[in-house]
Amino acid sequence: MALEKEGYRVTYMPVDREGLLKVADLEGAITDQTAVVSLTWANNKTGVLFPVERVAGICRSRGVLYYCDAVQAAGKIEIDVQKIPFDYLSLTGHKCHAPKGIAALYVRRKAPFTPYVYGGHQERDRREVTESVPPIAGMEKAGAPQHLEDRKSFCDFLPQAPRHFPRRRSETEPARRTLECATALRNRFCGSSLLERLGGHKW
Ligand SMILES: Cc1ncc(COP(=O)(O)O)c(C=O)c1O
Repeated sequence: MALEKEGYRVTYMPVDREGLLKVADLEGAITDQTAVVSLTWANNKTGVLFPVERVAGICRSRGVLYYCDAVQAAGKIEIDVQKIPFDYLSLTGHKCHAPKGIAALYVRRKAPFTPYVYGGHQERDRREVTESVPPIAGMEKAGAPQHLEDRKSFCDFLPQAPRHFPRRRSETEPARRTLECATALRNRFCGSSLLERLGGHKW
């Protein structure tokens, strides 16, 4: 990992069998040496939703910066940086109907930030290169409300999904994960045949 190569100590937090994190473990791992906590909002394999609001509160009270990767949460649940005190939050276009190659980084006004490219003064000196307007416009369009309709029809399909996975080993309760991400563990199960079974559905 890049930070470790630069000499920083990184503590990796375990998750349980369901992919859930114990907030008390995270709280216990924060020391006076901790600079930043990085925790995704929604896991890209299991769909598990982590308790980011609690974690952000803990980080704030302990004086630690909090970075949230919200890539898999975008378009699925409400993201409001006024309600939750994130210091940094990232989104990527290709997970929410925008073109590939565009992303967004939210940086709270007083959070420290050093650009990794220097040049002009674009984006308030945070990314000092010429912006590529078409993907940026695509990202804006992707945030438009009609895509919530796409999500609705996908969600209509989901209750039928269990019959495609007749012997699921485990699944986190739906309220604690996004509907769109799921992991199915099957012995000798061929990925392409799974795709064929799902192929007849429209969402
Ligand atoms: C949770 C999560 N974070 C980050 C990424 C990486 O996004 P990108 O490929 O746009 O860098 C992905 C997958 O694409 C993801 O699922």
